[in-house]
Amino acid sequence: MSTPPFSPFTIFAHRGASGLEPENTLRSFRRALELGLEWIELDVRMVEGTPVVFHDRTLSRRTKTRGVVERQSLSFIRSLDAGLGEKIPTLAEVLDLVRGRARTQVELKGPGCASAVAQLLGRAIAEGSAPDSFLISSFDSQQTTLCKRLLPEVPTACLTYGYPRRAAEFAASLSAVSFHLNLDAVTPARVRELKEAGLKVFVYTVNSNDDLAFVKNAGVDGVFTDFPDRIR
Ligand code: G3P
Ligand code: MG
Repeated sequence: MSTPPFSPFTIFAHRGASGLEPENTLRSFRRALELGLEWIELDVRMVEGTPVVFHDRTLSRRTKTRGVVERQSLSFIRSLDAGLGEKIPTLAEVLDLVRGRARTQVELKGPGCASAVAQLLGRAIAEGSAPDSFLISSFDSQQTTLCKRLLPEVPTACLTYGYPRRAAEFAASLSAVSFHLNLDAVTPARVRELKEAGLKVFVYTVNSNDDLAFVKNAGVDGVFTDFPDRIR
């Protein structure tokens, strides 16, 4: 497993260029590619055995209907308008779009998506994608661990809401190369501790220049942003 060649300050297009286009759609990822982003971030949920790219547990915020995403049929999910006429994409579609043009930070959001995602990424790698063109994370550390076991060559990240006790040890237990820290949990001391443990520290979600200045002062290595046009 190799650590991806991160830029000195790495920008992840959070859910694509989601401040400019409907989040987690092919349109938002295309916009991120047009803006020259090196990394996109996306969220995965399982629908009838197929990994789809969608953030929320339910459909109401992003579509004109309601219901839990994982309880729907794939054909129903694919019939929905996720904004500006965009479909909810499958992970396979996004990987096809991004291949060779940017790296993909795959967040395992829904339950039970690790093995299907590992299978898809494994296929992409067999077809020539570099293992370090992917970076796996999940708030559910068991899913990160399972993905790592199935696909050891793909780098993993430690993703948390707060700041766990023994954070660096926790990240090491996931073989993480990076720590994805909530903006509210950033302090210079924590960033120092993680970096001393050899981790990159990336912060979500940074959309203003004030927040950018704050996290840069704290010494972080990069940010997730909805506005990759502004945050440079
Ligand atoms: O992966 C970083 C970030 O996307 C985590 O939060 O809720 O935007 O998926 P969320
Ligand atoms: Mg996410």
